[in-house]
Amino acid sequence: MQRFDARQLKKIAVYTSGGDAPGMNAAIRAVTRSAIAAKLEVVGVIGGYCGMIDNEFMPLNLSSMANIIQRGGTMLKTGRAPEFHQADVRAKAAQHLRATGAEAAVCIGGDGSFTGAHFLWQEHKFPVIGVPGTIDNDIAGTDSTIGFDTAVNIALEAIDRIRDTAASHDRLFIVEVMGRDSGFIATEVGIAGGAEEIFIPENPVTVDQAIERIKRGMSRGKKSSILVAAEGHKPGRAYDLAESIRKKTGFDAKVCILGHIQRGGSPTAADRILASRMGAGAVEALRRGECDAMIGIVAGQIVTVPFDDVIGVKKKVATELVNLVRSLSI
Ligand code: F6P
Repeated sequence: MQRFDARQLKKIAVYTSGGDAPGMNAAIRAVTRSAIAAKLEVVGVIGGYCGMIDNEFMPLNLSSMANIIQRGGTMLKTGRAPEFHQADVRAKAAQHLRATGAEAAVCIGGDGSFTGAHFLWQEHKFPVIGVPGTIDNDIAGTDSTIGFDTAVNIALEAIDRIRDTAASHDRLFIVEVMGRDSGFIATEVGIAGGAEEIFIPENPVTVDQAIERIKRGMSRGKKSSILVAAEGHKPGRAYDLAESIRKKTGFDAKVCILGHIQRGGSPTAADRILASRMGAGAVEALRRGECDAMIGIVAGQIVTVPFDDVIGVKKKVATELVNLVRSLSI
């Protein structure tokens, strides 16, 4: 974690970056309202790093935060900005940011977004605190990220619905969930949805192992099964798995890809509370003069974790949870 002189801090910026996550609005609200309560002005960057580059900002006040805590998406908009990998582009963005009068910022996003924030400090001494907002929960230094709980619950609701039709037709289903190269969503959904097996990048099982499990269930009279697959690097891989199962067994596995449905909709209470605590925590950290770090939650406590311990660090899915899926689907 780095430090800056926050004694003269008068104005901060806030932005959302990367994939949107339910609860980002609650975090923006918490940042804005905590800052205003501490007599700071707040400016919003529109569209994350794209807005910073294109000089798109909007003033935020108490009333612009009304009626957003329950909304999914992000009222500030978000985006992915590959051009931020270029130093000259970052210099322009930093210049635009400073021209708003902001002396520090809160970045709500994931690993790539924090990398951008890290550069703003390293190259331009612009202090930023990160707030982890991603449905993937793949951020080191925090037990949970904003949006993860909502995404799990949305996927779970879908699985419960699929189970009705699977049971009625005695069918095998493969449900594909998001998560990019991590299996946090698939694992929690697998446990809560009573899946037979999960396919996750961190702890791969072979199709043969999954088939063995399905057949074992069938031998004791089980007529329908649900497998959960993390999308991994190849969204749509559930179709490959289904084809492989069909070739090996003749079973007609139905595929349901949940996709972006998992990113939309109203955040759960857990995500709203997490976002509120983290947003307020980010402003407190900036007022203490802390930067180049992320707000996390560890064992229920809000903590500040240096970006050096977060960016590029792989968070592991607990083996205990993966084993639980398998031990409970005997
Ligand atoms: O990082 C969040 C996430 O939803 C991943 O789970 C998914 O792989 C990715 O974003 C999809 O990104 P996009 O919406 O840009 O296609």
